[in-house]
Amino acid sequence: MNTLKGQDILDGSQFSRDQLDLIMNVAEDFKRRLENSKGLDLLKGYVLAALFFEPSTRTRLSFETAIHRLGGSVIGFSSAESTSVAKGETLEDTIRTVDQYVDLIAMRHPAIGSAVRAAQIAEHPVLNGGDGAGQHPTQALLDLYTIRAERGKVDGTTIVLCGDLKNGRTVHSGVEIYKHYQCKLVFVAPEQLRMPSEVTEKLIAQGITVEETTDLPAALKKADVLYMTRIQKERFTDPEEYERLKDSYILTREMVETINPRLIVLHPLPRVNEITTDVDNLAGAAYFRQARNGVFTRMALLALVSGKIS
Ligand code: NCD
Repeated sequence: MNTLKGQDILDGSQFSRDQLDLIMNVAEDFKRRLENSKGLDLLKGYVLAALFFEPSTRTRLSFETAIHRLGGSVIGFSSAESTSVAKGETLEDTIRTVDQYVDLIAMRHPAIGSAVRAAQIAEHPVLNGGDGAGQHPTQALLDLYTIRAERGKVDGTTIVLCGDLKNGRTVHSGVEIYKHYQCKLVFVAPEQLRMPSEVTEKLIAQGITVEETTDLPAALKKADVLYMTRIQKERFTDPEEYERLKDSYILTREMVETINPRLIVLHPLPRVNEITTDVDNLAGAAYFRQARNGVFTRMALLALVSGKIS
């Protein structure tokens, strides 16, 4: 049963295991259906607003591809400067207006909590494509889809999450989702960029196995999946601190080949320096397949929240 009809997608912690399984199955079905056809007409006539107040390549373009492949269309913007925000309009007024035009709203904004604020105003479903250093649930769902596709299952996977765990919104949403699959989580970050302690403590209180270390090679030995992330430059107030931390972890081909040749490597992208390009053609380098999975996963979300799947 589709319990996502009319729902907002705001936070990785909002999903039940049943909802996650439903999203994965619908995404898988769309992937299969697109093998025989360029597009479907399930959301014919539907209009999606893609409101991107912060830079984006994959999230915006895969949302746009998703609505097009479902037979709908898209309006929106990719930077706030070209909108009335530049004249001082509030987020609330922008959302209230766009809500008059469309059926679905996908948005990204630099402020934590902005998607929740938008959802309180909008009558149509709001899908959070990233709110500052807060949450990025649609990314976490496509990450889940990718682990399932690459390994054949998610239950019991040991996932090493590495990089900027303090500011990375994809990992904040991800851990809320992996906890439904009895995954073992290993957090690898420099001291200054550790996963917020309230997140770690909550996971442990829920019975999830969590380990924290600064030693990436040691963590890789026991990993099934490495989830590499970018140091989030735009969240630093001190540019020198960023310079000091930016190359904290760099995954090389040699590391994979010598430590764990069966490693599956994910990265939400964009990559800066944290994975050398010679990793890209290893069998386990899944990050561009992961980007492609964003289309199927976002198609599933758009169809489900629209209530077009029962
Ligand atoms: C991520 C984001 O914007 O949070 N990218 C994405 O959506 N694929 C990760 C990042 O910017 O580092």
